[in-house]
Amino acid sequence: MELSYHEDVSPGTGGLPPRAWYAGSDAAVLSLNGSWRFRLSPGAAVEDESFAADGFDATAWHEVVVPGHWVLQGHGAPVYTNQMYPFPVDPPRVPTENPTGDHLRGFDLPDDWPAGGDATLRFDGVESCARVWLNGSLLGEFKGSRLPHEFAVGALLRPRDNVLAVRVHQWSSGSYLEDQDQWWLPGVFRDVTLTHRPEGAVRDHFTHASYDHRDGTGTLRVESDVAGRVTVPELGIDIATGESATVAVEPWSAERPRLYDGVLATPGERVPLRIGFRTVALKDGLITVNGRPILFRGVNRHEFHPETGRAVDIDTMRTDVRLMKMHNINAVRTAHYPPHPAFLDLCDELGLWVIDECDLETHGFTMRQWRGNPVDDERWTPALLDRAARTVERDKNHPSVVIWSLGNECGTGRGLTAMAEWIRARDPGRLLHYEGDPSCADTDMYSRMYADHAEVERIGRREDGGPQARGALPFILCEYAHAMGNGPGGLSDYQRLFETYERLQGGFVWEWTDHGLTHPTLGYAYGGDFGEELHDGNFVCDGLCFPDRRPSPGLTEYKRVIQPVRFAYDADTGTVRVTNLYDFADLSDLSFEWTYHSDAAAGTGGDVPSVSGPLDVPPDLGPGQSVELKLPEPPATARDAETWLHLAALVCEETNWAALDHSVAFADFPVTARPPVPVATGARPRRRGYDLTLGPGRFDVRTGELRALGDITLRSAPRLDVWRAPTDNDDGAPWQPDTRYGPLWRALGLHRMHHRIDGLEVEEDALTVRTRVAPAARDLALRTVYRWTSDGTALRLAVSVTPEGDWEAPLPRLGVRLGLPAVHRLAHWFGSAGEAYPDTRAAARMGWWSSWVEQLQTPYLRPQENGARADVRWAELRTGFDGPGVRIVGDPAFWFTARPWSTEELDAATHRTDLVPGDTLWVHLDHGQRGIGSQSCGPGVLPQYELRASFAEFALTFSVAEPGR
Ligand code: GAL
Repeated sequence: MELSYHEDVSPGTGGLPPRAWYAGSDAAVLSLNGSWRFRLSPGAAVEDESFAADGFDATAWHEVVVPGHWVLQGHGAPVYTNQMYPFPVDPPRVPTENPTGDHLRGFDLPDDWPAGGDATLRFDGVESCARVWLNGSLLGEFKGSRLPHEFAVGALLRPRDNVLAVRVHQWSSGSYLEDQDQWWLPGVFRDVTLTHRPEGAVRDHFTHASYDHRDGTGTLRVESDVAGRVTVPELGIDIATGESATVAVEPWSAERPRLYDGVLATPGERVPLRIGFRTVALKDGLITVNGRPILFRGVNRHEFHPETGRAVDIDTMRTDVRLMKMHNINAVRTAHYPPHPAFLDLCDELGLWVIDECDLETHGFTMRQWRGNPVDDERWTPALLDRAARTVERDKNHPSVVIWSLGNECGTGRGLTAMAEWIRARDPGRLLHYEGDPSCADTDMYSRMYADHAEVERIGRREDGGPQARGALPFILCEYAHAMGNGPGGLSDYQRLFETYERLQGGFVWEWTDHGLTHPTLGYAYGGDFGEELHDGNFVCDGLCFPDRRPSPGLTEYKRVIQPVRFAYDADTGTVRVTNLYDFADLSDLSFEWTYHSDAAAGTGGDVPSVSGPLDVPPDLGPGQSVELKLPEPPATARDAETWLHLAALVCEETNWAALDHSVAFADFPVTARPPVPVATGARPRRRGYDLTLGPGRFDVRTGELRALGDITLRSAPRLDVWRAPTDNDDGAPWQPDTRYGPLWRALGLHRMHHRIDGLEVEEDALTVRTRVAPAARDLALRTVYRWTSDGTALRLAVSVTPEGDWEAPLPRLGVRLGLPAVHRLAHWFGSAGEAYPDTRAAARMGWWSSWVEQLQTPYLRPQENGARADVRWAELRTGFDGPGVRIVGDPAFWFTARPWSTEELDAATHRTDLVPGDTLWVHLDHGQRGIGSQSCGPGVLPQYELRASFAEFALTFSVAEPGR
């Protein structure tokens, strides 16, 4: 049976060979973006092709915006799967139900469109297969969704009333090569452009700009298949194409992205060149640039916008790159396809190392060992080579691109080897990456995803076994630290390994942004919200940013973990050691500051003014170098108060990604310890009927529960709590070997504990309540004793917990929960600033903070445990900034969480919009929290961050916070 063009394995027909992308030449350009006529059909062959003929009347059709996806413009719906093909697997055949969008637009040539020459029509991205006609003539077909395709159209153009017709099939043979973990989003989603090609215009050009770190010279050579001249005025270069020039230059690096403007002039066109001199090489088993090994502090970036899907506007691209730079990220893997070409211009300009990945993934085949994996079937090799060529040819002139990647998760096969051979021959100036082949036969680096810390350490020590050839290669984690929901945990522990073993050249967090789609009733939609037959739920929401690019706490944590300056403080000598962790740059872009701040009034609220001053770090401190500096003495207040030293590195001159004083790195160190917390005791309990009064506390003697504190009637009395709404990482991924504690906790019944009262003792100066906290159907328990005392003003609760039975699982949390009237919406506290858990607390900045309770919530797209603050000495919940409320002092410090809804409500919610503030403010005062890990795809919580059920004692002192402070 002869297959139609959309099902045969060929990459396409009728198009031009791929070539380098550039913007800003002097050739005339006409954008064909905008409103197009649109008709959706349910199958590939339902409608005939008469719409492409001249004179077809499409006025009754709908309209869609190009670039765009029709499923996000009211026609059909998106589908999300991770590695499942959403149709029966029978390559290269696709289903008869194959949504097909006919697109039509007319256009006139501008009056000043030059006469003569040719013209090309370029599509920068169409998912997944298109057939194209201009003025009734068939131009051809193409596949390769995230790749450019061009046609020569000069002979067909007319000054007025041109008609461009494009038929787009959602499914094609190409879909088998595009099984990436993302929404399936058909449409013409990148630019459509008509470009004039004058006689003698540049066709393709390849800029080679290397840097010799030994003598500081750069060598430039521009190949062009139409001969011309190359000029770089700043360097005094004026040479013919094909010739080379060697001059003294400043090199390009992600840290100092020095670009030189040049021009390639052929008889018909002037093309701007943006030249960055750099040499990428494998040297002594390490990835080097300009002679030095580099450390990737990277992220994986999909193209995504919550409203327009993979049609991403230039502002969003710029926001992404700026945000990455602002968070100390120095590298991006373009998972799992070449991005919009303008994104790479931004990487050149602002400075990011790029692994540019080909648009290729056949994941479903590798998961289930199906026969016919296209990467190992030579019938598909031309399609694979076409994809490799379209990637490399388009992006070859970007200095930021240092590594080509063959694709993602395809298993192994001859097709991949053919791609690697082609790429190496075409561009020996870059390295090659592919993760899916453990032998590393075709690659320059050993790359893995989600390897746990212990394995990464073995690899760092070169004790991982494996083929000999692999042992000689550098190592990267092309994906790690799965940022789904709350997390990722364990970043600091990875970074320590990267900084210890030279073979470990860093990694790329999975991934940059959540792919939640804006939804009218759900806030952000994820898999399953569009009634898909098969889907993978919220696995598509696993980014360091929320869909609107608001940084999630994971991004703040990552920024701190990978900061390029290290501080070490020695309290005995009052000195600080500052180390430059950049690979190339000195510290001349930064200024340094020290600050002492004290919680002088610990126990009564308020802080004392901080003192600060400049720290004179030598600006020329080179990469890897350290300096030791003496700090000024802490102020006198520091002697009787808990005092902290804050050190910061700030941007000292505005850049294209950072404002003046943008903070690049910081560290906090205790200078003097927290003074002991006074034990509130001495007052006598007084009993009247069922009421018992102890200081400001009013209890019910039948239950031992605290009913009121001063005038504030509690909505829920403080009592032991171990439950948290499981995070995506608690729930874990089915393929992970580690125990998945979220489901186990639920099976054990930790979300429905019973609190039995075993004894109530009213003593001379205390009320003691003995309880057994346990789930039904189990013989596990936590024997819990609450001992209440007071000094007349403050009310102290001492809690002791003794586990009983065989606790096979760690606890989610261990602490006390209470409910206050919801008006207490303003929190003040002394402790850490942002969300933190035991293995996500590197960024937790110590200090005195205030926040509305609403702002303490981290709005993960699928609601789950969030918002804890670490190391909290004391917290207040007030009705407003100076309003009355409750003050809580911890002994020791506690984890503080406050929410306008209960854990049960948080646990039951599936989308943000399910959460509605109630009349209770739920306050969690935790002695312990379990770490986070990244088991939603990677390894679980490291043993040191687990919360084992074991004997515990802690105390909390409550008092009424009077208005004002
Ligand atoms: C990897 C894959 C990514 C993504 C991630 C989990 O296996 O390469 O595309 O699926 O896991 O979110």
